[in-house]
Amino acid sequence: MTNTEPRAVLISGCSTGIGRCVAHGLRRRGYRVFASARRQADVENLSAAGFESLPLDLDSSDSIRTAVATVLERTGSRLYALVNNGAYGQPGAVEDLSREVLRAQFETNLFGTQELTNLVIPAMRAQEEGRIINISSILGIVCFAYRGAYNATKFALEALSDTMRLELRGTNIYVSLIEPGPIESRFRANAYEAFKRHIDREHSAHREYYARVEKRLEGTKPMPFTLPPEAVLKKVICALEARRPKARYGVTFPTHLFLVLRRVLPTRVLDAILKAISIGGQR
Ligand SMILES: NC(=O)c1ccc[n+]([C@@H]2O[C@H](COP(=O)([O-])OP(=O)(O)OC[C@H]3O[C@@H](n4cnc5c(N)ncnc54)[C@H](OP(=O)(O)O)[C@@H]3O)[C@@H](O)[C@H]2O)c1
Repeated sequence: MTNTEPRAVLISGCSTGIGRCVAHGLRRRGYRVFASARRQADVENLSAAGFESLPLDLDSSDSIRTAVATVLERTGSRLYALVNNGAYGQPGAVEDLSREVLRAQFETNLFGTQELTNLVIPAMRAQEEGRIINISSILGIVCFAYRGAYNATKFALEALSDTMRLELRGTNIYVSLIEPGPIESRFRANAYEAFKRHIDREHSAHREYYARVEKRLEGTKPMPFTLPPEAVLKKVICALEARRPKARYGVTFPTHLFLVLRRVLPTRVLDAILKAISIGGQR
């Protein structure tokens, strides 16, 4: 590969939302974007939009292995960056989460994501450079009520990222976390579907809260301080192009606010604020 060849980036979850926006934005910036999606129809749409698209379902080890093999084959084993974006939110009170539902949330958001990452690291080590960009969340910084499954996966993603940063120190492979607050995407609609599919609302001790939240979820009013996905793209570009990328990039006012509040407030006060926001929030 010559220096003029564009740098290759693999992105998970490009069917919609942040992943799709980042795929378009990085292509415009001159990267060679491998835009993946788990459904065939979305792979075809991405292909029609001119991307080198490929199937990648984080719930399937076979799919992950095939996707990585395809990208490495097409790039002569040179993959500059991986953007771990694909994920979903499973709402519901912690006591209403079955083991199966909690496991499914971890399979996608954490285990599949880490399996994918571990498969690209050898190529990054061999080329002596690489960027791993993990899309975390404000819910990887603080916890909202009724988002326990999702909170747990994003806290775990933060822990694995922090650990990898120590283990990859000195390798020229950098791990960065992007921590968005509310962003326009299909996230909320998808979370609502997961909620309806997996939570037994009628028999829950939280049914009154669920009834209220369903009313809100059916509406389209965005949460306060919601930003377009381009706000995330901007930080992904920083993580890709900074000489020494940061460990964390916050996106949206609520993320920056809670990064501070988490440090300065006593737990009791922080809990009261988080509970109030959780009940009022829609995500
Ligand atoms: N939107 C927000 O407010 C917000 C805030 C903080 C963090 N985030 C994070 O941002 C990232 C992108 O979310 P988004 O807001 O763009 O939501 P989105 O519109 O729901 O997009 C999520 C993407 O992840 C994909 N995905 C879900 N399960 C997958 C699987 N098993 N294998 C591969 N891909 C899978 C979805 O594919 P399908 O279309 O096939 O379902 C979709 O492409 C996620 O990591 C999310 O946690 C979002």
